[in-house]
Amino acid sequence: MNQRSGPVGVGIIGAGVISEQYLDSLTAFPDVKVVAIGDLFPAVAEARAAAYGVPVSGEVDRVLGRDDIDIVVNLTIPQVHAEVALSVIAAGKHVYNEKPIALDSNSAAELLQAAARANLRVGAAPDTFLGAGAQAVRRAVARGDIGEPQTALTLMQQPGPESWHPNPAFLFQRGAGPLFDIGPYYLTALIQLFGAVTEVAAISGKAQAARVVGSGPRAGETFTVDVPTHISAGLGFADGRSATSIYSFDSPLGRVLFEVTGTEATLGVPDPNNFGGDLLIRRREDEDWRILDSAKPVSGRGTGVLDLARAIREDRPHRASGALAAHVLDIMVGAIEAAENHRVATLTSTVESAQLLPDDWDPYLPTL
Ligand SMILES: NC(=O)c1ccc[n+]([C@@H]2O[C@H](COP(=O)([O-])OP(=O)(O)OC[C@H]3O[C@@H](n4cnc5c(N)ncnc54)[C@H](O)[C@@H]3O)[C@@H](O)[C@H]2O)c1
Repeated sequence: MNQRSGPVGVGIIGAGVISEQYLDSLTAFPDVKVVAIGDLFPAVAEARAAAYGVPVSGEVDRVLGRDDIDIVVNLTIPQVHAEVALSVIAAGKHVYNEKPIALDSNSAAELLQAAARANLRVGAAPDTFLGAGAQAVRRAVARGDIGEPQTALTLMQQPGPESWHPNPAFLFQRGAGPLFDIGPYYLTALIQLFGAVTEVAAISGKAQAARVVGSGPRAGETFTVDVPTHISAGLGFADGRSATSIYSFDSPLGRVLFEVTGTEATLGVPDPNNFGGDLLIRRREDEDWRILDSAKPVSGRGTGVLDLARAIREDRPHRASGALAAHVLDIMVGAIEAAENHRVATLTSTVESAQLLPDDWDPYLPTL
């Protein structure tokens, strides 16, 4: 596939809520071309394809069976992420999974091994760490703006997605909840700053046994909550540094906090679920925060797919990698086990921070 030139052919499986954001990006990047969209419900895929001018749509096989598709973006629900990704590898295509990469560490390892055997790549969300905000944070830390980074404190509290998502039950089942659904943004960002995690302590809770769909045709339907909806976690990094994080769908108050504290100052990091935002800094002598940088998003979800496409052609590692997502999964699985067993979980997987994007990186410039 490396010898081809021109845009890399992309297929999408799963035409639900988040497919719109991916299609907004992927149809605007000249280095990729969305060729086909498939879904368990073909009519859903057809409607999405029509809205974005994608030529082929319908059953999943319409994506897997095409020779002009090199990368399949898997935007299905977490319960089937591994199974769908394996079918993509079996069809001889690279796969880019939404998060979490799989429900359990063994399934993630099986996927990575199957891809390696087939000489194919696995990419995975989140790719917000490639956004202008997260990249500016890494540059500020590398410049020494806060001295030596020592610790991080992160907080994500909100009422939960059932108020706005039309099919929210999956977000409260295994593979989701605040830790698996939102945690990957925070954990991926933390790994870029502090490296791999080796131990996790956690305590969890669940405020409600059932919740009610708040919007769309199913509004008013009740569904059960299968996973913890409030998790407090302590993370130990390989080099001895640590971070404290809370992930909660049990709060009427919605707020986000991400601070990296160094020897000289604390950095206020933009929401890691977004691609841009203000970076704040507060030095020892400061009485209040001040804006260090305002990072405007350059692109949105799908940036990691573009980097994967370019990386395949340029024969270099891609940044939003399956190995990174598998390590993030191990941290989350470790947190759940730690909370259940009242014991610190130790992790065996490891990963390195991804390369920073070059200063002149431009997703809208054709390079292939
Ligand atoms: N909604 C968001 O804001 C958001 C944001 C970031 C990431 N995500 C992630 O994106 C993924 C999808 O979320 P969503 O909100 O779009 O969900 P959704 O329920 O709106 O859409 C999922 C789609 O996948 C299809 N599907 C399910 N199983 C399938 C299978 N086996 N084969 C083919 N198609 C199948 C469904 O029919 C549906 O159209 C999840 O992993 C979620 O964590 C969602």
